[in-house]
Amino acid sequence: MGKKLNFYEFLANNIEQIKCSSLYRRLRIFSSRSGPYVKYNGKKVIQVSSNNYLCLAADPRLQQAVSEAVKKYGVGSTGSRLISGTHELHAQLEEQIAQFKGTERAIVFSSGYNANLGTLSALLGEDDAVYSDELNHASIIDGIRLSRAQKFIYKHCDTAELERLLSENHHKYRLNVIVTDSIFSMDGDRAPLKEIAKLKETYGAVLFVDEAHAFGIYGPNGEGLAHELGIADKIDIQMGTLSKAAGSKGGYIAGSNDLIDYLVNKSRSFIYSTAPAIPSIAASIEAIEIIKKARKLRKKLYKNIDYLKSKLTAQNFNLIPSESAIFCIKFDDINETSGVSDQLLEKYNIMASAIRPPTVAIPRIRICTMALHEKADLDYLVESLSELIQN
Ligand SMILES: Cc1ncc(COP(=O)(O)O)c(C=O)c1O
Repeated sequence: MGKKLNFYEFLANNIEQIKCSSLYRRLRIFSSRSGPYVKYNGKKVIQVSSNNYLCLAADPRLQQAVSEAVKKYGVGSTGSRLISGTHELHAQLEEQIAQFKGTERAIVFSSGYNANLGTLSALLGEDDAVYSDELNHASIIDGIRLSRAQKFIYKHCDTAELERLLSENHHKYRLNVIVTDSIFSMDGDRAPLKEIAKLKETYGAVLFVDEAHAFGIYGPNGEGLAHELGIADKIDIQMGTLSKAAGSKGGYIAGSNDLIDYLVNKSRSFIYSTAPAIPSIAASIEAIEIIKKARKLRKKLYKNIDYLKSKLTAQNFNLIPSESAIFCIKFDDINETSGVSDQLLEKYNIMASAIRPPTVAIPRIRICTMALHEKADLDYLVESLSELIQN
């Protein structure tokens, strides 16, 4: 048992400890529209730390859709979805997502975090097992924790270990759920979805895929990586977020009619939280319509991804092999990582995040490119990084 502490001493001690371990987190406040460049401390900086992959967050079409919806319906949703909060726009967005993803139905949560938390915790219980990649997003980890299911964490993308765990354990549990990000948010690599989908079939498991960093970007029309690979029909629970490439806010689960009915009845983050507000729903509806037709924009993004990959690879950086718009340079030292991020911002006018423990085990600078970055921006980014990073 710990010694009784004064509350304010407890807070101050904790903050001091975080600072001493160089893990103190600070909010960086920008003051412009979101885009490839933002205003920070009065200066224009290149933004390479956001998830605004298609630059839709400040797109005039989304602004227009939001202002029309707000004029017509106001702002707040006034209640939880089951009480007073379900507006026809929520129903429209859910139908649109189901159609886009090719599923029977979809359900929208106030965030991707809440979608993962509320789905995993509602579906799984003590009699079930979950098989989760060790680098899955925090919202998946938290959903699993809440569920109290037996968890088996397999090494990152290691399908041999996943198979071993499934073969040894699947017969002992009521449900066996495999859960993985499709694109890993802090590494930028891809899950071996085809192999995982095969294992799901072999062992009669349920497959849950988080497409947060693939929705809008991959697939013939931006549906996600599973559609690109032609295996969307093998995925029982397709999760994604409206907060990244779609430039809005919210999360979704797409799947069977019964899955969605089950979540409407059992998912606590859906039931006990006020429904997403009108602006984010209106923006999401417009964003998905844009995404469906955004071939040119996606091509620009792919071009930037390829260009940045070739430039970064040509340097001697300790780069994590990326298969997406996310690029990470690893460091041995937390202070050096934070120093590089701070200097990029202060000296070079580039906003790139330092990602440190406990978010990741190995500290890194995380860079995300967007469709509307110019080649010159990416050249300047790589030059600045090579000036700062001693090889
Ligand atoms: C893989 C992954 N899943 C889920 C989420 C949560 O989504 P949201 O930001 O919409 O809450 C994120 C975002 O950080 C993510 O990267």
